[in-house]
Amino acid sequence: MRTQVAIIGAGPAGLLLGHILHRAGISFTILEQKSREYVLGRIRAGVLEQGSVDILRELGLDADLAERGLTHHGIHLQYEGQRHHLDFVDLVGRTVSIYGQQALVAHLLREHDRIGSDVRFEATDAVPHGLETGTPSVAAVHEGREVRIDCDFVVGADGYHGVCRPAIPGIRAWERSYPYAWLGILADVPPSTDDLIYALHPDGFAMHSMRSLEVSRLYLQVDPGESIDDWSDARIWEALQARLGVPGWMLQQGTITEKSITPMRSFVASTLEHGRLFLVGDAGHIVPPTGAKGLNSAIADVALLGRALVAQTRGDERPLRAYSGSALARQWKVQQFSQWMTEMLHVHRDVADASAREFRYRSQVGQLEYTVGSRHAQAALAEQYAGLPF
Ligand code: FAD
Ligand code: PHB
Repeated sequence: MRTQVAIIGAGPAGLLLGHILHRAGISFTILEQKSREYVLGRIRAGVLEQGSVDILRELGLDADLAERGLTHHGIHLQYEGQRHHLDFVDLVGRTVSIYGQQALVAHLLREHDRIGSDVRFEATDAVPHGLETGTPSVAAVHEGREVRIDCDFVVGADGYHGVCRPAIPGIRAWERSYPYAWLGILADVPPSTDDLIYALHPDGFAMHSMRSLEVSRLYLQVDPGESIDDWSDARIWEALQARLGVPGWMLQQGTITEKSITPMRSFVASTLEHGRLFLVGDAGHIVPPTGAKGLNSAIADVALLGRALVAQTRGDERPLRAYSGSALARQWKVQQFSQWMTEMLHVHRDVADASAREFRYRSQVGQLEYTVGSRHAQAALAEQYAGLPF
């Protein structure tokens, strides 16, 4: 079969790109290796930058977001038992929206069903071919049969573990892992806060997010080797209360419906382009979640690549050739911000020498005090958290 753009991966990046192409009358097929239920069940990011919200609105994909998303005007930064509010509206005139990636994916899929898109789940063994030629294709196995999709372009929206990035000869990557992980929970309890709380505590980082006015999402810094089995619900609530507590405030507890541990890494590929192949989202870069940038970076890539593919079909090849450079330039700024937030807010237990460890912790407190004490520093954080231009 033939289509103009073969997209590998039905995460937020692949699904959103499909909608951009559809609006421009460009045909596409999405191949996803997992089942629809699996894709719908994945709980991940929760914060949308204003730019991401704007893109969804421009595409008419914001009905569910408008109904269920929560507009937040800032965040709380907490350390040494004090909580400070940063007001993004006052600082940079921007907001962010709390809207789960799970809800976004469900909405994008419903809209694909409505317009009759060709989205194939449980399509395994995808392999891109002929990327250096004018006639690329993707081979895969779907419903027990081998399929071959001839196309003009292949888009790798297949995440960090996908097949597209390794298909680029000579590609390099720069990466680092962190000596800590996040234990995340979803709980059926109204949030105990208005805006998100990011807290540095001697026991480790903690954060209070949410999915709705009825469901809270909370995170704890743990060691990467830890097992979720060692974290009973009671132990989790106790640690959250200890790390997030400030005088006169209590964390409300509820039934934990999901809990898991996620490692943290920073990763950037040397290119997002090879001939007729383009990478978007986690296929090309990963950030630690402290800056809430993973999903937003995927949306930023897709907005840029979508526009470039539309220009290409109208005879202008230049935006497509500029895509990798532009997306990576933006991504390195996002990497820097995510790394900065991460290192400022986590306890570096891996530092073996006790004096050096304490030095590190105290300089993080100094950095936080500077950040909340300086309007310029607050504005720099707000500008990056609410999102750099696409
Ligand atoms: P993905 O969402 O990874 O989608 C890629 C899709 O491609 C998947 O559906 C996968 O099944 C499919 N695929 C892979 N290989 C193939 C193949 N060979 N053939 C066909 N299909 C394939 N970000 C935040 O900002 N905040 C968070 O709290 C947060 N939490 C996270 C928790 C976890 C466990 C993970 C893994 C990520 C988290 N992220 C978070 C990051 C954020 O979710 C990602 O940045 C975002 O999902 C990127 O979207 P994507 O579409 O590029 O990739
Ligand atoms: C979330 O709600 O899952 C979330 C919010 C902000 C982050 C990371 C995760 O920085």
